[in-house]
Amino acid sequence: MATYKRPDHFTKAAKARGYPARSVFKLEEIDRRVRLLRPGQRVLDLGCAPGSWALYACDRIGLSGRLLAVDLQPIAQMLPANATFLQGDVLVVAETELAAYAPYDVVLSDMAPNTTGNRLADQARSYHLYVFALSIAAKLGGQGSSFVGKIFMGPDFELAREETRKHFDQVRLLRPEGVRANSFEIFVVGLGKRESPRLPGSSRSEPG
Ligand SMILES: C[S@@+](CC[C@H](N)C(=O)[O-])C[C@H]1O[C@@H](n2cnc3c(N)ncnc32)[C@H](O)[C@@H]1O
Repeated sequence: MATYKRPDHFTKAAKARGYPARSVFKLEEIDRRVRLLRPGQRVLDLGCAPGSWALYACDRIGLSGRLLAVDLQPIAQMLPANATFLQGDVLVVAETELAAYAPYDVVLSDMAPNTTGNRLADQARSYHLYVFALSIAAKLGGQGSSFVGKIFMGPDFELAREETRKHFDQVRLLRPEGVRANSFEIFVVGLGKRESPRLPGSSRSEPG
């Protein structure tokens, strides 16, 4: 039987502001802390359903910006005119479809696997989604662009951070207030995408 979870403070506040999910507060905090989104940007939102990040980002980039939002699931949320929704599995959808507005200024991934309760297996699947999103950001992000990716903390986390450092000048780890206390998710933020990836063994410009 499905268990009913009482809406918490963040969920109620999100609904009051017209967002379908509390996740909006995570992106809002990340945006405030790293100055991510600006008018006119091109944004790719991977794992967008039910649509809170997409709505927030569309508002920040304005009508001169463009956003492509992708998810396995359909979304009920109407998106503004500067957004396009693509239903599909990011892992298999043609790269040309993801490249609709490339080069992107910002690539977002809030993708998460359906959790099974087996923590190691869930972490491994989250790592896989994270690394895939990072590879898309590496290919379709413009020079100097930014990346935000969600990952479940686990044994592969350091590998994910190292991989991110190859592509971005600065790598920051953020756990916004909106993350539930019992969640082991964290957001890795890459800023300043390099023209070409840093080669293994070369010195780091940023400790992260
Ligand atoms: C936490 S939700 C995203 C919430 C969203 N950022 C928002 O603010 O409304 C994670 C989403 O990732 C999607 N997802 C997981 N794996 C995916 C994949 N391989 N391709 C596309 N979407 C995926 C799920 O369907 C789910 O809707």
